[in-house]
Amino acid sequence: MAVGSDAGFVVLTVLLAWVVLLSGQVSSEPTQDKQALLAFLSQIPHENRIQWNASDSACNWVGVGCDANRSNVYTLRLPGVGLVGQIPENTIGRLSQLRVLSLRSNRLSGDLPRDFVNLTLLRSLYLQDNRFSGGFPGSITQLTRLGRLDLSFNNFTGELPFSINNLNQLTGLFLQNNGFSGSIPSINSDGLDDFNVSYNRLNGSIPQTLFKFGSASFAGNLALCGGPLPPCNPFFPSPTPSPSIVPSNPVQKKSKKLSTAAIIAISVGSALILCLLLLFLLLCLRRRQRRQPPKPPKPETSRSIVAETATSSSKDDITGGSAEADRNKLVFFEGGVYSFDLEDLLRASAEVLGKGSVGTSYKAVLEEGTTVVVKRLKDVTVTKKEFEMQIDVLGKIKHENVVPLRAFYFSKDEKLLVYDFMAAGSLSALLHGSRGSGRTPLDWDNRMRIALSAARGIAHLHVSGKVVHGNIKSSNILLRPDHDACVSDFGLNPLFGNSTPPNRVAGYRAPEVMETRKVTFKSDVYSFGVLLLELLTGKAPNQASLGEEGIDLPRWVQSVVREEWTAEVFDVELMRYHNIEEEMVQLLQIAMACVSTVPDQRPAMQEVVRMIEDMNRGETDDGLRQSSDDPSKGSGGHTPPPESRTPPAAVTP
Ligand SMILES: *[C@@H]1O[C@H](CO)[C@@H](O)[C@H](O)[C@H]1NC(C)=O
Ligand SMILES: *[C@@H]1O[C@H](CO)[C@@H](O)[C@H](O)[C@H]1NC(C)=O
Ligand SMILES: *[C@@H]1O[C@H](CO)[C@@H](O)[C@H](O)[C@H]1NC(C)=O
Ligand SMILES: *[C@@H]1O[C@H](CO)[C@@H](O)[C@H](O)[C@H]1NC(C)=O
Ligand SMILES: *[C@@H]1O[C@H](CO)[C@@H](O)[C@H](O)[C@H]1NC(C)=O
Ligand SMILES: *[C@@H]1O[C@H](CO)[C@@H](O)[C@H](O)[C@H]1NC(C)=O
Repeated sequence: MAVGSDAGFVVLTVLLAWVVLLSGQVSSEPTQDKQALLAFLSQIPHENRIQWNASDSACNWVGVGCDANRSNVYTLRLPGVGLVGQIPENTIGRLSQLRVLSLRSNRLSGDLPRDFVNLTLLRSLYLQDNRFSGGFPGSITQLTRLGRLDLSFNNFTGELPFSINNLNQLTGLFLQNNGFSGSIPSINSDGLDDFNVSYNRLNGSIPQTLFKFGSASFAGNLALCGGPLPPCNPFFPSPTPSPSIVPSNPVQKKSKKLSTAAIIAISVGSALILCLLLLFLLLCLRRRQRRQPPKPPKPETSRSIVAETATSSSKDDITGGSAEADRNKLVFFEGGVYSFDLEDLLRASAEVLGKGSVGTSYKAVLEEGTTVVVKRLKDVTVTKKEFEMQIDVLGKIKHENVVPLRAFYFSKDEKLLVYDFMAAGSLSALLHGSRGSGRTPLDWDNRMRIALSAARGIAHLHVSGKVVHGNIKSSNILLRPDHDACVSDFGLNPLFGNSTPPNRVAGYRAPEVMETRKVTFKSDVYSFGVLLLELLTGKAPNQASLGEEGIDLPRWVQSVVREEWTAEVFDVELMRYHNIEEEMVQLLQIAMACVSTVPDQRPAMQEVVRMIEDMNRGETDDGLRQSSDDPSKGSGGHTPPPESRTPPAAVTP
């Protein structure tokens, strides 16, 4: 600390000396750059903290630094001065000699102006802590002298371009806390000392060139893997021995490197042990013949041994007996359509779908082409028996709006669940993915359809299965191609005892669950109410588990509704559809009933289904409901022609 302030003092003295020196030669002036700066300040809204005196030399202005000749502006530093909005074209982009540009900690938004490509001499660009949005600015990838680039804490989205590699002088690249998605390109990291892409929405494997950075550089992303993070295909983290290896192999392997004396010693020893074992077996057999054995010995199939060797750690290969082998195989539920075994699953190519607090989900494509979802549970606390009892209940649930659980696997080290794969993805992706970048918005008919079908799925869990879902959120609502919803990830809370807070995503959690730590049918109804609000507002509720700042949807909606009944709560993407206001208000009322703070005031799930069905019935006579049944027609009745697809200006809180 002391060293730092000393250094700062020296710098300050030098600066002061310069100012004193330079104030003598006011005559020289970067005329062109001054005009550009004045244009910038006059065009951008800002607070009154910047006072540039037009009759003074620009080189004397606060935040502006010039070269020794005072003929060009070299540095512009305006951190935290309350600049608001988009940087205008033809202003800063004209400062052709600029070396350092810092506009951090303002409220700048939108894209960077295109003429930033002309800042070819720029060495440092600090734009962190603003509200810039849009894709990674293409102009930046042409500023080949850049050494430090900080775009962190903004609202950038889209993929990171491979052309970042144009910036071959880069020593620091800071992109954390944005909305970048997709996988990280292979970035040349030779000169790179600092690198951070944490808290984005990146997925896929980390390129090898970036392995040298620690996990803190990649934290908080949706599904990154490899390098400093857990490996990419980790159904089974320990390198799995080949299935053909028999348990005695480790000894054979070792003996190859041993001397003959040792081999003899081992042989003699083995023979002795064998004799002892035989004796022991004989004794045991005699005893068994006297007392009736409690269970008949299980048949030993070759496949189960394969499964056992392939999955357990090497220690288990030696100690694990054949009795365990039969128990440790993939167990399918009745009525399933699959025929594969654990070995097939191990050979499958896998891709991370999502990481939750109960475990990670993978999309596994088996060699014969079948695709399934494998959920790898972590921190299961219950015993095998309790596990099997709960899973058995879940496996029996069959409903068109519930994702079927097909199989499970339980061993000491691994607990896997196998589900059907739903190719159309999750409601969360559909609702929040790549907003504003020319995607097809989720129309009202389909939102209603999802609301109703999800409600039916959950009601079936409650009524027929007597199962509390416990983790209702938009990423657990999966879609069939016809936009009928299926609920997934249900009924897993009992597997974790009290160790995991139930309903992990804070934004969906009913208030009483915070205290009781127990999910109930009524807390499911609350979560479903939040889901309805999400469908109506297009806003993601507070997702603490993703490190994303969100909003407490029920509270926010209540506050807007209380102040004045306005259309502001509804998703701007819905504003283009006509004659749906009444339905939206009806669904909003159902949602508000579901998110009552008092559990007893919430309707039961089957009542929610009936309420949504009733509101549909009132509308069927206009013929619009049917249109969404036919995907080819879509919701043509509602969708305006493509040229007028831009929604009206956003009304956000
Ligand atoms: C602007 O600078 C001129 C010349 O240096 C000076 O006379 C004038 O007082 C300054 N105006 C303000 C508002 O500071
Ligand atoms: C300063 O001006 C002199 C002559 O006018 C020129 O030779 C020199 O290159 C200039 N230096 C810089 C840094 O622009
Ligand atoms: C860059 O500068 C050149 C010359 O000053 C100008 O013609 C061009 O329009 C500028 N580029 C952009 C994108 O503004
Ligand atoms: C980020 O962008 C999204 C849409 O792209 C917008 O809804 C959100 O309000 C923006 N966040 C901030 C902090 O500007
Ligand atoms: C990463 O996410 C994108 C969508 O943002 C998806 O298209 C892609 O398949 C994902 N890749 C991996 C490896 O998960
Ligand atoms: C990257 O950024 C995150 C979030 O701002 C921070 O917590 C983390 O420490 C940073 N990592 C490194 C290596 O600096």
